[in-house]
Amino acid sequence: MNNNSITLCRCMEETEEEKFRRIEEVIDEYRNEGGNLIPILHMAQGIYGYLPLELLQFIADKLGKPLSEVYGVTTFYSFFSTKPRGENTIRVCLGTACYVRGGKKIVEKLKQILGVDVGETTEDRKFTLEVMRCMGACGLAPAMTINDKVYKQVNPDKLESIIEKY
Ligand code: FES
Repeated sequence: MNNNSITLCRCMEETEEEKFRRIEEVIDEYRNEGGNLIPILHMAQGIYGYLPLELLQFIADKLGKPLSEVYGVTTFYSFFSTKPRGENTIRVCLGTACYVRGGKKIVEKLKQILGVDVGETTEDRKFTLEVMRCMGACGLAPAMTINDKVYKQVNPDKLESIIEKY
């Protein structure tokens, strides 16, 4: 077999230094653009997986901005995370219809199955558990999502088998 025909992704093997170097390249690329902080944070999160304090400090230093400004932007937007995230994100709807029809029970059952609280990630980094506001599927409450897939009329007794698919 010709080994040259196989291209393996090295992302998983990338060292911390290599990740920081890549983020530095992104910062250099965006340095002179106005409103560059949000795109830089997006790219940095894409490369590193999340935005720990030492990475925010690195970005702040490279941009000559105070850490408080970089940290403030990171915590203001919900799509940025300062903690490691799971491979899969489970979001349970706790809008009124879902709440009334058992959304809370789903949260409790998932906490028990995964062994984490809301906002936390499992030790094996497989799942992050979150809650969300109404997603417009109220007629089929209670609803939840795993990544981009929507689960409607969720039965707490079926949760284990749903989770197993991931
Ligand atoms: S309240 Fe859950 S989808 Fe609307």
